[in-house]
Amino acid sequence: MSSYLNILPDAGAAAKACAERIVEIVRENIEQRGVARIALSGGSSPKMMFGEIAKLKLDWEHVWLYWVDERVVPPDHPDSNYKMAMEHLILPAGIPIQHLNRIAGERYPEEASAHYISEIQVDFKLKEGELPKFDLIHRGMGADSHTASLFPNDPLIEDDYEIAANTYVAKFNSHRVTLLPGVLKAARHTVILAPGADKAEALWDVLEGKPDIMAHPCQIAAKPPYPTEWFVDVAASRLLRKNS
Ligand code: 6PG
Repeated sequence: MSSYLNILPDAGAAAKACAERIVEIVRENIEQRGVARIALSGGSSPKMMFGEIAKLKLDWEHVWLYWVDERVVPPDHPDSNYKMAMEHLILPAGIPIQHLNRIAGERYPEEASAHYISEIQVDFKLKEGELPKFDLIHRGMGADSHTASLFPNDPLIEDDYEIAANTYVAKFNSHRVTLLPGVLKAARHTVILAPGADKAEALWDVLEGKPDIMAHPCQIAAKPPYPTEWFVDVAASRLLRKNS
């Protein structure tokens, strides 16, 4: 098994291992730089993992939260990634509200994206054309091998230069704001949590299939030399070469 690929017995164990690794990386960054700026994904897999993080001791005064992507809906909407993080991580862990840099999903998509970009440029003190280097990016992977809100064949998959953008995901009839590949590639650390039998084909496509980021966007910064660590369960890994 490759060093960057952690295969746990089930989704609960994968969530716990991923949470412990995230907390370890954040603590290291606080020790080294006094601060940790992390970007979280949404969906359903993170719920259990966020709950595990909330149980662990972490000096949240030195942690600043961002989002990898967001549905363009109000923050109290059932589909909001911010709402899910609030319920499963932020409130249980007591993270200071001032440390949250949510994507303003209640705005028009273009406005939400522009506002998020300018917030990141100010926070990371970026010059024009510079990209933020997050200390940690937490990603998921869909059964169609999308990651963030970069879905197969979206032209944004080839944009290595901009920070974020808004996009429309036809299959979910959902406007989204998402970080772009250049930012995903620049992360100091990435963890990808992708448990579940429904992820098995996508996991094979991403880790062992032909390189094709348009077809399999989660191939972006997915393997060494990128500092990416995967947390999956046995069910998701069933198609992988054993001892890979
Ligand atoms: C989102 C996420 C998305 C997620 C994948 C996997 O807004 O939906 O950011 O990229 O990570 O869709 O979602 P599950 O973990 O729920 O399968």
